[in-house]
Amino acid sequence: MITKTSLRRRQKKQSARPLKNAINKIVENDLIRRVSYEEYREKVRDVYDGPQGALLATASLLSGHMALGDRLLRERKFDLRGAKQILDVGSGAGQIAKHLLKYADEDAHLTCFDLSFEMLRRARNRLKSDAPRHLVADLTRLPFANESFDCITCGYVLEHLPEARSGLAELARVMRPGAKMLLLATEDSFSGAWTSRLWCCRTYNRQELYNTCQDLGLVWNKELWFSRMHKIFRAGGICVELVKA
Ligand SMILES: C[S@@+](CC[C@H](N)C(=O)[O-])C[C@H]1O[C@@H](n2cnc3c(N)ncnc32)[C@H](O)[C@@H]1O
Repeated sequence: MITKTSLRRRQKKQSARPLKNAINKIVENDLIRRVSYEEYREKVRDVYDGPQGALLATASLLSGHMALGDRLLRERKFDLRGAKQILDVGSGAGQIAKHLLKYADEDAHLTCFDLSFEMLRRARNRLKSDAPRHLVADLTRLPFANESFDCITCGYVLEHLPEARSGLAELARVMRPGAKMLLLATEDSFSGAWTSRLWCCRTYNRQELYNTCQDLGLVWNKELWFSRMHKIFRAGGICVELVKA
């Protein structure tokens, strides 16, 4: 389990770089802080419905995102075995769902949802499978009963909310006790700030995200890294396995 102390040590190092942090803040997209959530959500839907969303399907292949994600599940860094009800949050073009279909138990049920209908259509094209249930939904208002899932994957969606709590509280609600979640999020680093420009999102501070999860009973079980190089250079953003207490 990740302790507060180890994270705090790292955080201390980061806050000792005020100039870098200030530059990151300037670079970061701030639309999410300037308009209401409803206005922002419309903008996000437009971005992903449109050509940029179409590009994401190809971009994730070119950037190595697909291969790296595959590795997380193939090498069982995030172990899907035993999970029967799996929820993929903000499925996009089906990048994570593709791996879930490949590595989950044969009798597992997969539900994929996204804010953008167009992204779900792209996901269906990519997955070429009738197995997953696809639906349009907003992470802050999930149409699922309490404790319906024993496994959740949430890749790069939380950064499309003004604050993490509203989304994480919904996810905690639909998770069974002991259920686990693979959470990927854009970090408040220099590359994270540029990513936020490209995808019109915000970034998260690792320590703050950890604290919010703790408050909601979502325990950071282990930090994950796509590869050894990512671990050495602390690259690739926030990638963590959470367990609902
Ligand atoms: C960067 S893509 C991530 C795709 C995939 N999960 C992955 O890891 O590659 C972000 C996706 O989240 C969706 N999204 C953004 N805000 C959302 C919300 N409030 N509820 C549900 N989906 C949302 C977007 O439409 C988009 O398809």
